[in-house]
Amino acid sequence: MDQAEQLRKRVSQQIQHNGSTRVIAVTSGKGGVGKTSLAVNLAIQLRKKGKRVVIIDADFGLANVEIMLGIRPQYNMADLIYNDKNIDDIITQGPMDIGFISGGSGVQDMVNLDKEQVRVMISKLVRLDTIADVVIIDTGAGISDSVLEFVLSSPEVLIVATPEPTSITDAYSLLKTVNRNKNFSADEKKIQIVSNRVGSKEEGKEIYEKLNIVSTKFLNIQMEYLGAIVQDSNASKAVIEQKPVSLAFPNSGSTKCYQEICNKLLELDETVEEPREGVAKFFLDFIRQKKKKY
Ligand SMILES: Nc1ncnc2c1ncn2[C@@H]1O[C@H](COP(=O)(O)OP(=O)(O)OP(=O)(O)O)[C@@H](O)[C@H]1O
Ligand SMILES: [Mg+2]
Repeated sequence: MDQAEQLRKRVSQQIQHNGSTRVIAVTSGKGGVGKTSLAVNLAIQLRKKGKRVVIIDADFGLANVEIMLGIRPQYNMADLIYNDKNIDDIITQGPMDIGFISGGSGVQDMVNLDKEQVRVMISKLVRLDTIADVVIIDTGAGISDSVLEFVLSSPEVLIVATPEPTSITDAYSLLKTVNRNKNFSADEKKIQIVSNRVGSKEEGKEIYEKLNIVSTKFLNIQMEYLGAIVQDSNASKAVIEQKPVSLAFPNSGSTKCYQEICNKLLELDETVEEPREGVAKFFLDFIRQKKKKY
């Protein structure tokens, strides 16, 4: 048994959750297309349906989620290891009791952890499986290593694209890169497209179809369509108010779209038969992905 296998075995003994927590990574090929907006507003809509939600900000650039939720977390994931904090200490409560965890340097640091630190980290993260029904991970854009690792580790991936041609081609490039990785298996993953800033529902569907045709033909990856979000002037007004548009403008066009997307996502709850693998398994895969490259 090699070291990785031993670690896997040890950690899997710790993972005694009920397997029902969904881990959803939100990503895109191109930046600025609406990932954080989707993560935050989906979280609000899921809360409205009674789901317990935690958002993890794994984007190392601007602290987008914090701005959109109007919160300032004190700790980040690195504090789980280096400052002996627990999950509950590093979660900041946002509006409607959305839990928020800043990945901070913690996500990057995972590659440097020794076995004992990985064990501690995972044993702390296991708690997320009992306190959240859905964990949404807001990733950075593009084909950086971290984004790839999140996409490879996450059982569910939402790819955001806008009508801009570069947004669609960049989404395809991301899929192509993911597909090249030997740890990628299209059968084990649910990849769904969300079209953002569209003029009409039809335009949203067209974005999906364009992408799905090429990904099916050239990559043998079949994606699903989760839905579209209309272009909405209230979206930027909400950012200025540091509130999710779903709360600042509950009757706005984009809010209704987030509602529909949430409902569609929840339909899946009823159709999934196999137990989900949960958060701890997700991070274990993520750490393994990261370590593999070094
Ligand atoms: N449906 C929409 N209608 C109008 N504006 C929108 C819409 N969705 C997002 N925006 C605006 O686009 C900008 C970028 O959105 P957001 O920050 O969610 O993108 P992102 O993909 O997370 O960006 P980054 O790659 O920098 O993390 C924000 O100012 C936001 O208000
Ligand atoms: Mg963002």
